[in-house]
Amino acid sequence: PFEAAIFDLDGVIVDTAKFHYQAWRRLAGELGFAFSEEQNEQLKGVSRMESLELLLRAGGITDLMPEQKETLASRKNEWYKGLLETLTPYDVLPGVCSFLGLLHSRGVRTAIASASKNAPLILEKVRIRPLFDVVVDGNSIVRAKPDPEVFLEAARQLGASPDGCYVFEDAAAGVEGAIRAGMRVIGIGDGQMLARAHLTVNSLEQLEPVFLLSHIGVNGH
Ligand code: G6P
Ligand code: MG
Repeated sequence: PFEAAIFDLDGVIVDTAKFHYQAWRRLAGELGFAFSEEQNEQLKGVSRMESLELLLRAGGITDLMPEQKETLASRKNEWYKGLLETLTPYDVLPGVCSFLGLLHSRGVRTAIASASKNAPLILEKVRIRPLFDVVVDGNSIVRAKPDPEVFLEAARQLGASPDGCYVFEDAAAGVEGAIRAGMRVIGIGDGQMLARAHLTVNSLEQLEPVFLLSHIGVNGH
């Protein structure tokens, strides 16, 4: 049975993945190395400090003290939050609101499962918090994706069993975490990058009719 839909936030619900990349690239630039969009794929879904570790490794920087790392992560986050200031409800990705509306009308419960500590701020800025029954984010979980913790906690709060949950993810680490949680995963984005997902589409907009027909047995239109 299809009990619940669990959504990643950055890059699935809101177009904030590009802001993370801009801020990380700026930090790399200040540290004196280039950071490509391809390299950035590895950072998606990964916690802030682990992302920094991956970035530093990409730049060959191995000699920083923990306090220096904290400072760098804070700077990135300040730039990122500056970019978040520009967010409006128009930054909700295409298809999201209608998809959530259809899920609710079929009695499917919904959650956000994000590694981000900025998730509450983002949800408030784009005004879609009321569309989710549950929000689990980087402020309440300990182990980041690809650990399944964030997904299992969302399912627990929704009162759903993992095999009744579908996860929607744009990051390889998130796809992996959802699989480890025993859930089915829909990859949003590049099929090659998200090869372990059960199905991959370019956006939720594209998914809606296909998904509803084959998994809930409803013709959405
Ligand atoms: C999400 C994003 C990552 C980000 C992480 C932590 O998973 O996909 O790119 O690093 O959240 O976000 P934060 O807003 O707490 O730095
Ligand atoms: Mg994401």
